[in-house]
Amino acid sequence: MRVLGIESSCDETAAAIVEDGKQIISNVIATQIPFHQIYNGVVPEIASRKHAEWILPVVSQALEQANMTLDDVDAIACTNRPGLIGSLLMGLTFGKTLAWAKNKPFIAVNHMLGHLYASNLILPGGDDLMAGVEYPYLGLLVSGGHSIICKVNDFDNIEVLGTTIDDAVGEAFDKVAKFYNLGYPGGVVIDRLAKNGDARAAKFPMPKLDKGESGEHRYDVSYSGLKTAVINQLDQFWCEGYEKTNENICAAFQETAVRILLSRLFRAVDDTGIKTVVAGGGVAANSRLRSMLAERTDIKCIFPPLKLCTDNGAMIAGVGYRFLERGDRSPWDTTACARVTEFKRGLKK
Ligand code: KG4
Ligand code: ZN
Repeated sequence: MRVLGIESSCDETAAAIVEDGKQIISNVIATQIPFHQIYNGVVPEIASRKHAEWILPVVSQALEQANMTLDDVDAIACTNRPGLIGSLLMGLTFGKTLAWAKNKPFIAVNHMLGHLYASNLILPGGDDLMAGVEYPYLGLLVSGGHSIICKVNDFDNIEVLGTTIDDAVGEAFDKVAKFYNLGYPGGVVIDRLAKNGDARAAKFPMPKLDKGESGEHRYDVSYSGLKTAVINQLDQFWCEGYEKTNENICAAFQETAVRILLSRLFRAVDDTGIKTVVAGGGVAANSRLRSMLAERTDIKCIFPPLKLCTDNGAMIAGVGYRFLERGDRSPWDTTACARVTEFKRGLKK
């Protein structure tokens, strides 16, 4: 079954054709970064307008690259939540209209399920990274809007163990980069600059989640303290003998940001005894996160290829296929939702 996946929740207009939820046939991602760069962040109105301009050429290109017409597509899947409402509506309405006009099954997909699914996809000529991996495994879902440690029981059955109590990890990267005028998107720039810096230049504090490390917040993370320390209290945490270069600031910040995440993830590994971790989301592209996790040789850690960490249509087509093969369909009155109640602790989704 060939599914056309459409993604437009933030600042990438993306479409892909995926066969049987695994093999990517085409994957087109039109990034709006140059249009938002001058503002150091995503401007929702600009994002919606670009999606409106680009959605038709992007979907056409995905079909062209796959050497297909819409008649060769068996179903259409679109991101409908969470994200920027105007942006979501562009891709969703476009995809729903195509499905309606062509009498094809239509399925709406939660963007976060897409990120968690990305490692299941095989790029042309690529490997099956999930070969032999069985449920349950631990999921590390880290993006601009989410930081989630979860137990993945099935592609759509996610038990959230821990999440952020304030900022998402990607948001912290973006805000630090914005403050120091390093460029946009912040994560990629910080990752690059940190390679030439010394992580020992500052000793930033780790969050103390005061409701008790053994209780409610056992797997939760927090990034507002680190963000404030890096932005407003740099002198207080700076170590003698190190120059205050962007490279050193980035390296010390990144080191702490990754340590916060991994301290909770390793706790979840130890508590559950589950030794397979599958990462997803933009921050899963981070080189320090990847290298630090690789040091734990007792954990099998799977990261999607870099291209599939950030937003793309293939992950939506992949999840769409899983729903469709189960016989699920979304009704024609499905709309977009900016926020979702899924992926809160204690809820299975
Ligand atoms: O998954 P994504 O493309 O969009 C959301 O669903 O949010 O993630 C974007 C986030 C941004 O915060 C960006 O700064 C971060 O992922 N990011 C990174 C890296 N590449 C992207 N953060 C750290 N290191 C990276 N290499
Ligand atoms: Zn995303």
